[in-house]
Parts: sequence; C-alpha cells; structure tokens
Amino acid sequence: IHNAVFDNSDVASLAVAEEIAELIKSKQAANEPCVLGLATGSSPINVYEELVRMHEEEGLSFKNVITFNLDEYYPMAKDNTQSYWYFMHDHLFNHVDILPENINIPDGELKPEEVHQFCIDYELKIKEAGGLDFQLLGIGRTGHIGFNEPGSHFNSGTRNITLDHITRIDAATAFLGIEHVPRVAITMGIGTIRKAKRIVLLAWGINKASVIKETIEGEITSEVPATYLQTHNNVTFVLDEGASSDLT
Ligand code: F6R
Repeated sequence: IHNAVFDNSDVASLAVAEEIAELIKSKQAANEPCVLGLATGSSPINVYEELVRMHEEEGLSFKNVITFNLDEYYPMAKDNTQSYWYFMHDHLFNHVDILPENINIPDGELKPEEVHQFCIDYELKIKEAGGLDFQLLGIGRTGHIGFNEPGSHFNSGTRNITLDHITRIDAATAFLGIEHVPRVAITMGIGTIRKAKRIVLLAWGINKASVIKETIEGEITSEVPATYLQTHNNVTFVLDEGASSDLT
C-alpha cells in the first residue's frame, strides 16, 4: 500500500481528479475505452466537482468512459434523492458528455427474484468492458469498501448484502431517521474491486482515523474488509491530516 497524505481534502481531491483525467486522456489517445469504478458518499464529491470543471473549462471529454458504480441501496427508486443513481447524476453524469448507455449502477428497482441474475450480469459486463482500469473507493467506519460489510469474503462478487448497524447509523441523518435507512444494498464484491488494475481509496477527517489505522496497519481480516486491499499491487490511500492522524 502506498499512502499519500495531503494538508486537506480539497488539494487531495484535485490530485485524484488529475490522475483520473490523465487516464481518460491516455485511453483516448490509444483509442480505447476507459473503465472507471465509481463511489458515492461525501468523500468523492470534490473529485467529481473537479472533473466537471475540467469538462466545462478544459474540454475533458467522457465519450470513451464506461462507468460501474460500486453499490446502491435496495430497494431504492432511482428518482429518490437518497439513491446513488440520483447522487451520481447530480454530481457528475448530468454535467459531462458521458454516453448514457455507458453508465452502470446497481439497480435498486429490481424485483427480488431478479437480483441474483442482475449481479451475475453486472460481473460479466465489467469483464466484457475489459475490467476496471481504475476504482475509486471511500471507506465506512465498519471497514466496508463498497458495501462489503464485516464478514465479506476475499473472493466475493456482486451480490446483495445486509447493511451493518453502524453503517445505517451513519446514514440516518441523510434519511431523516434510522428507520428510513434501507436494510439491504447491492454491492460489487471484494473480488470485483480487487480485480481493478488501479485502486485509490479516499478518507477524510478524524472520524476515519481509527479505521484507516486498522486497514493499513492491522492484520488482514474479514472483520475489516478494507484490509483485503493490503495484498493489491497498485493501491493508494489518499488521506488528509485527520484521517492519517492515528498512523504510526
Ligand atoms: C459508497 C460506498 C461506501 C462509502 C463509505 C464512506 O458508494 O461504497 O463504501 O464510500 O460508506 O462514505 P462517506 O464518503 O460518505 O464517508
């Protein structure tokens, strides 16, 4: 693992957006698609904001970009403002020239009996696109990446998962009460994430300091699924001062 500690999350986000933009441009120059795995939540917001700025002011094009989002609540309507579908369109997709058919987000509107096949197809679609060139991650206080909560397997694929209680507490404010937070989500697996050629995990603030310490310095364990990243050969933890403050 490589750690990059920045003074604050704003400058860190600019650096991550720059890396993504360079990847998109290098793939464009090679006439190849650029396959991005994307995250929602508070951590990547400024990265998306900078990518939108680059599109508007510098002509960065997303015409060759194919995206796969990590996760979505289940059940969840796309037009619900709490949906990850809504988040991604609001923060990124509505403001750039990505082709709608190149956007992939786990579908919170499926019938229960459709979920299993959807997950198999999601894995297949990533593979057919050539695999994830770059995966952007945040991290939850449970050590989840995507919604791979404690107990997730090293080789897990896209599937539905029961959200951890702590994860639901952390979402309670946005949902105006824990009773409104969904109990289930559809998430890419640890195995799906680990197949990405390059992984960048973002963590900001003192609230993430202890899980960042466990993730980077702790033993690899399914109790902290992010520790599985320790064996990936191209992962960078992008941190601010707060998130890095417990590291030895
Ligand atoms: C979001 C996701 C989650 C979040 C994590 C951190 O798509 O997969 O793992 O990255 O819960 O959320 P924030 O960034 O809001 O602290």
